[in-house]
Amino acid sequence: MSLVPMKKLLLDAEKQQKAVGAFSVGNMEMVRGALRAAEARQEPIILQIAEKRLTHSPLELMAPMMVSAAEHASVDIAVHLDHGLTLDCIDKALGYGFSSVMLDASLLPFEENIAVTKTVVEKAAAYGATVEAELGVVGGNEGDSAEHIIQCTDPKKAAEFVNTTGVDALAVAIGNAHGNYPTLPELRFDVLEQIHQTVSIPLVLHGGTGMSSEQFRRAISLGICKINIATASFDALAKEAKQYLTSVSTPDYFQLSEEMVRGVYENVVRHLQIFSNQ
Ligand code: 13P
Repeated sequence: MSLVPMKKLLLDAEKQQKAVGAFSVGNMEMVRGALRAAEARQEPIILQIAEKRLTHSPLELMAPMMVSAAEHASVDIAVHLDHGLTLDCIDKALGYGFSSVMLDASLLPFEENIAVTKTVVEKAAAYGATVEAELGVVGGNEGDSAEHIIQCTDPKKAAEFVNTTGVDALAVAIGNAHGNYPTLPELRFDVLEQIHQTVSIPLVLHGGTGMSSEQFRRAISLGICKINIATASFDALAKEAKQYLTSVSTPDYFQLSEEMVRGVYENVVRHLQIFSNQ
């Protein structure tokens, strides 16, 4: 068990009608919490970090920790760059040993998204790494500081995009958004079904925080093999930290760290149970 290409996890999940959980991390407690959950359940996971988060969690510190965590795990782990914004960051992540990268060029015109994604596919091939790309616009603001209006993926364009670029996984926009939803989102499963019919590679669902178990399961039945969870883990960590700090008069760093790990662990376990249909 070790660091593996993300593609392997996605294809295994597809065969088993499951999805692999991709959990965003921003510090050591998040890495430890996610890893503890994966090992407790003996299930593979993806550890990921978005380029936008590197201002708080520098890649030169996070990358060696994420890769080392994967290499020492008792289950298979992929390490993924989520929402890469620059080719420079893609190069750095591959250099640190990430087993998967995503360049989010979804806001570029279709032809430009294809062209830059092809470059990423060539770069990743030299490392045996997986490539995820996004077509359509997922709402919220994970990729940069602007809020985006949701624009569903066009199923015909999705097929052309996948065939022309040679990517391994495609993130779809079906009414999903990053961050906490004000109410349960209305996901366009009709659009997902059409994409699933025209595209043969594993599909990825971003914006997993706040979706219902039923929505996750339906998405998995329609080709979703990777589900991204970020906000729920950050919130779980912050909530446990707050609870601990307000419950004691003399806070202890080591206990605080343990509470943060536990918050993330519980959130990851909860999602893994749903993603593996258990
Ligand atoms: P959430 O923050 O909504 O869970 O989205 C995570 C995500 O899609 C990261 O790319």
